[in-house]
Amino acid sequence: MCGIFGFIGNRAAAPLLVEGLRRLEYRGYDSSGIVVRNGDLQVYKKVGKVSELSKILPNHIEGNSGIAHTRWATHGGVTDSNAHPHLSENGDVAVVHNGIIDNARGIRKRLEDRGFELKSETDSEALVHMITIGLDSGQEPLEAVRQTLNRLSGTWGLCVLFKEHDMIICARNGSPLILGQGDGESFISSDPHALSRHTQNIFFLEDGDMAVINKDGIDISRLEGGSSSTSMTVIEDDWGEADMAGYPHFMLKEIHEQPEALRRCISGRLDRANGSAKLGGLKLEPVRLRSAPHVRLIGCGTALNACKIGQLAIESLARIPAVAHVASEFRYNDPVINPNAIHFAVSQSGETADTLSAVKEIQLKGGDVHGIVNVVGSTIARLCGQGVYIHSGPEQAVASTKAFTNMVASLLLFALRIGRTRSFSRERGRSIIDDFQKIPDLMENYLSNPGPIDEAVELLKEAKSVLFLGRGLSAPVASEGALKLMEIAYIPCLAYPAGEMKHGPIALLEEGSPVVVIAPNDRHREKTISSMHECKARGAKIILIHEEGDSISEEADVSIAIPKCDSILTPLLSVVPTQLIAYKVALALGCDVDRPRNLAKSVTVE
Ligand code: G6P
Repeated sequence: MCGIFGFIGNRAAAPLLVEGLRRLEYRGYDSSGIVVRNGDLQVYKKVGKVSELSKILPNHIEGNSGIAHTRWATHGGVTDSNAHPHLSENGDVAVVHNGIIDNARGIRKRLEDRGFELKSETDSEALVHMITIGLDSGQEPLEAVRQTLNRLSGTWGLCVLFKEHDMIICARNGSPLILGQGDGESFISSDPHALSRHTQNIFFLEDGDMAVINKDGIDISRLEGGSSSTSMTVIEDDWGEADMAGYPHFMLKEIHEQPEALRRCISGRLDRANGSAKLGGLKLEPVRLRSAPHVRLIGCGTALNACKIGQLAIESLARIPAVAHVASEFRYNDPVINPNAIHFAVSQSGETADTLSAVKEIQLKGGDVHGIVNVVGSTIARLCGQGVYIHSGPEQAVASTKAFTNMVASLLLFALRIGRTRSFSRERGRSIIDDFQKIPDLMENYLSNPGPIDEAVELLKEAKSVLFLGRGLSAPVASEGALKLMEIAYIPCLAYPAGEMKHGPIALLEEGSPVVVIAPNDRHREKTISSMHECKARGAKIILIHEEGDSISEEADVSIAIPKCDSILTPLLSVVPTQLIAYKVALALGCDVDRPRNLAKSVTVE
């Protein structure tokens, strides 16, 4: 989704801005631009990748301050003029903006009535003219930005650059902005990845914060006036360099990083002595775990699929009702919140606006929420103030892989923890833990010999649509496999619990229709075989993901074997072939695997 990067210091700003934009590329975007202060404000912006922007930049651009943006279109099409930065008519003010201004239509109309000629269709352009009106009436820059923001409703992560003032002004309301203080230079980013290589000294702006940024310092105040309590944090977490390490795509690299990422996630957390798990960030005493009436898990996209697995694992191991919720629906359905219930917000980025809204709704109604989050210090992690970091490391491909497996692993750890306080024995816990410890090695073994993925690709790459089936824990794995293939290969995919297939999607099946079935050797096996027979009777071709050594493979047109493990852990292994299938089908179709069209890695608008 939209990204912001800014710099002020003594070095040439333009190369730093372009490099900052490259680090934000993974979030998904459709155009980019920079503005550098060099006597005038010099704006360059272009539809397409940052590499397209680079082509129109002069070899050398003077100037030691500037702001930059990657845009993911919300208001107005994907055009050069809608790209940010937006410049005032007199060339004195430039803005980049993330978020959505809800009352932009009325403001744009009033600006046009005053004689402004708006050059874009965006909500963001209105801001630059409003700030200019304030400056022209004699206001200081901070005051002009403050007065502008006070007239807006909506969300913003905003940066403003001025021709006449050696400063950048930033503001946050619902759209993340992070400031970094270096030695004689300051940085701004919407994403900690882009800052960590420059400085560890970070300010996470809070909603309602504004900041004046100079090369020598950062002064944070509140939109309503007065000083802010936001203070500097030293980031200790080694987020690591997010390069491709010799892989052709981030997605393939991240698929192969899963064993190591999973080791990090479970390391020190499996408590074999007690047949339980230790999750230091969870502030849930045994008495609370025992008395909670239910568990609710909230997420979007891949995180939602992880929640659905968590729901089944928690209910099965702990005998407590658990429900997964679509975050974007949650708040608006006016949910009843029981303050004794346990709530989880699951998010790779920790910035997803829909999930964030759900967290606020629960907190407003007196509940507490635990985050299951990858990005350390992200908004959801900070708002929850308690939870589990999944420790996947940077995930750059839009299609999530290693974050999914670590979300599932974290929820399984919680299922063990709550299960041991409520229902099962130490022996059962130990037996799960013994298998859990082996999963990273089993994943590695599978990845070194992933089976006939190419045969599956041949069946899938020309399909009109693909049906994914599974039962029990494998139903959400089917959903995740379908999501992945749809996201990056643009093939319409349907995922159904296998037994429900005969109640609708069976109508789609014709001679040669590919059906991907996830059928580990669990208690659903026989029923899944029946569903497969129903598909085969209609001419469908079955791509079957099953446990090695299981005779169920005879049912398959393409049989992909995964290692055996405790049935509660199977999603950690059965999802991996679906990731490889999506990756290879997308490649075969010539799609941009890491940056699929229209999608964003981190969706910071509702
Ligand atoms: C977007 C991405 C998905 C992701 C979802 C939730 O829709 O395209 O890949 O699963 O957001 O993201 P989160 O960062 O909250 O896990």
